[in-house]
Amino acid sequence: MYSIEKDGYVHFMLKEIHEQPQVLQDTMSARISAGGAGVVFNEVSLSLEEIKNIKKIHIAACGTAYHAGLAGKNYIERLARIPVEVEIASEFRYRRPILEPGTLVMVISQSGETADTLAALREAKNLGARVIAVTNVMDSTMSREADDVIYTVAGPEIAIASTKAYAAQLMIMVLFALYLAAGRSAIGSEEMQEILSEIKELTTKARRVLMDTGELKKLAGEFAGRGDVFFTGRCLDYAVAMEGTLKLKETTYIHAEAIATGEMRHGPMALIEKNVPIVAVATQENLLETMAGNIQELTNRGASVAIVAMEGFEELEKVAGRVFYIPKTHPFLAPLLAVIPLQFLAYYTAVAKGLDVDQPRNLTKSVSAE
Ligand code: G6P
Repeated sequence: MYSIEKDGYVHFMLKEIHEQPQVLQDTMSARISAGGAGVVFNEVSLSLEEIKNIKKIHIAACGTAYHAGLAGKNYIERLARIPVEVEIASEFRYRRPILEPGTLVMVISQSGETADTLAALREAKNLGARVIAVTNVMDSTMSREADDVIYTVAGPEIAIASTKAYAAQLMIMVLFALYLAAGRSAIGSEEMQEILSEIKELTTKARRVLMDTGELKKLAGEFAGRGDVFFTGRCLDYAVAMEGTLKLKETTYIHAEAIATGEMRHGPMALIEKNVPIVAVATQENLLETMAGNIQELTNRGASVAIVAMEGFEELEKVAGRVFYIPKTHPFLAPLLAVIPLQFLAYYTAVAKGLDVDQPRNLTKSVSAE
């Protein structure tokens, strides 16, 4: 289904960015029940009773998968009302975590082989927790050792910078949150239907985002001469901003830092001066006014802010020079679209710098050492 050739694309990263609409389609179609009324995870052997008795979820992962976990926390807490802790796997494994009865552990890993995530899985099992692995590789070590496996169906990912695997992981986290929410009767059928019908629209909307790269290429040309870039956002947008920084660091060697917008005043604001480049992610309607005020403050100090926003948020044009729009969707699904411009930004900046996009220096696809 997905080939391991470049299929006419210059780089695997570009090809994999373009595969995302299909990946979203494949991931969702296997999970939405035949009648379209709910979500199925047949491979997860949790009974309804067990779902109701989950007291806490820990998510452990590395890199991009960790960022998918951060979004997953938002989804699970908001939809299923189960407390979630997300941790970098290399920290989790040495922290001697307290996993009380009723704790579910999820590990997320594209490769299913990352040493630290595997160690987190083993530590969780030693402590008696039930472990679900979300992975993209069949018969990987994690898939063999976890109690349950959820496969992301992104196809082989070749570029070191992860793009389509992240999309699949996010999609799984939304769907799994809906699955848990339904099992705990935490969501009404109307809200479930509303989110599912938006999910079904995502493929078409992601295709639209893929077509709109002209202005992003220009911005990438400017970023190519920069040494530092800040990203900012709140809640889900902050999780996406973190992924945007990782993409930029990995592929362009530009120092990038994600700052939760509310933290700006607690130190980072001292770094903001004329022409400092900032990418703000603003896709959440309930945060729109707050974000507009925060971005205004940054531009007042001379920062050069580009915003990734949802259609309908045109008032943001008053506070920043550049706004990139993603199609209107449910707020929970916005990260799936908002990440695409950030991936393009990293990609085109790396191209503008003449770097080896698919094989950045010092990095490997799967980190098998601590
Ligand atoms: C490496 C890759 C990243 C990836 C991380 C976790 O650092 O370069 O792109 O996010 O490992 O990999 P995993 O296979 O566990 O998702």
